[in-house]
Amino acid sequence: MTRIGVLTSGGDAPGMNAAIRSIVRTSLYHRLQVFGILHGFTGLIHDDLLELNSRSVADIIQRGGTILRTARSDEFRTETGQQRALEVLKRRGLEGLIVIGGDGSFRGAKVLADHGVGVIGIPGTIDNDIPCTDFSLGFDTAVNTVVDAINKIRDTATSHERVYVVEVMGRNTGHIALQAGLAGGAESILVPEMPADLDELCRKIEVGYKKGKAHSIIVVAEGFGGEPRPGRDFEVSAGFRVGRYIENRTGFETRITVLGHIQRGGAPTVLDRTLASLMGARAVQLLAAGACNIMTGYQGARLVDVPFDEVFSSRKEFNRELYDLANILSLA
Ligand code: F6P
Repeated sequence: MTRIGVLTSGGDAPGMNAAIRSIVRTSLYHRLQVFGILHGFTGLIHDDLLELNSRSVADIIQRGGTILRTARSDEFRTETGQQRALEVLKRRGLEGLIVIGGDGSFRGAKVLADHGVGVIGIPGTIDNDIPCTDFSLGFDTAVNTVVDAINKIRDTATSHERVYVVEVMGRNTGHIALQAGLAGGAESILVPEMPADLDELCRKIEVGYKKGKAHSIIVVAEGFGGEPRPGRDFEVSAGFRVGRYIENRTGFETRITVLGHIQRGGAPTVLDRTLASLMGARAVQLLAAGACNIMTGYQGARLVDVPFDEVFSSRKEFNRELYDLANILSLA
């Protein structure tokens, strides 16, 4: 293999740039030529490529977003789009491709792999909903952003002795809500994975105030209680629904904060930069060794190579132990 490509796809995640940097420099170290494909699979279809060198990836390890830009490509879901992408790869002489993204992006990648392209996936999504890896790039940074916001909200919540509902991202999963809720000391965490009794939650809030709590912070995953329409659910987002219910039922003054896309931005944490550097390097090594259809995972503080088929046939476990612990620790 002499020439490879890299693209980012789906929602951007802090750490993607650090991974691109690692991929480019590891490739050059192994004397591979490396091309950046802009705008995800859409850019591949339209031959939107540029050659990357060591300088192209200078000064990006600390930057959120992705210098390659990203897209959710409808075009690539069509047979015609996929054929065009294969033609571009062939014409450009790209024998290997590294895809940084989520589960959906890997499924796209697999289509190319089934046509003989060497493909390696790096998990990148703040949602941390990809199976077979403890972390996907961006999750740790997003959770830290949420905890930082909760700390600030706590100041004003205490001063006014109010209830605050903080809605966080996660699409149909509650991993961000759980981790940030625990680390932020939330009174309750509402996630799609677990049933919740809102009347019970209201009683808990009332008991808390009776016992001298100065505020209540409820973290709600955007997917709680139904399908989320991120940033578009103007009237019925999960946070507003829960907030309205609590205020009507308890009479406590309630405020809602929807954190939204600020969770996707910002400088990646040390963990995200480290994972990105490790996974980027591993992805290149795998391609150089002729491996294909593999995701670079991280399990129990070790890098692992996970076949795509295993990723697709697994489900990401919700951390029930952490959820139960958060409930215990939020006792009034
Ligand atoms: O998958 C990452 C994510 O930020 C989800 O948490 C969220 O539901 C979705 O993307 C938002 O997508 P968009 O940026 O396309 O509105």
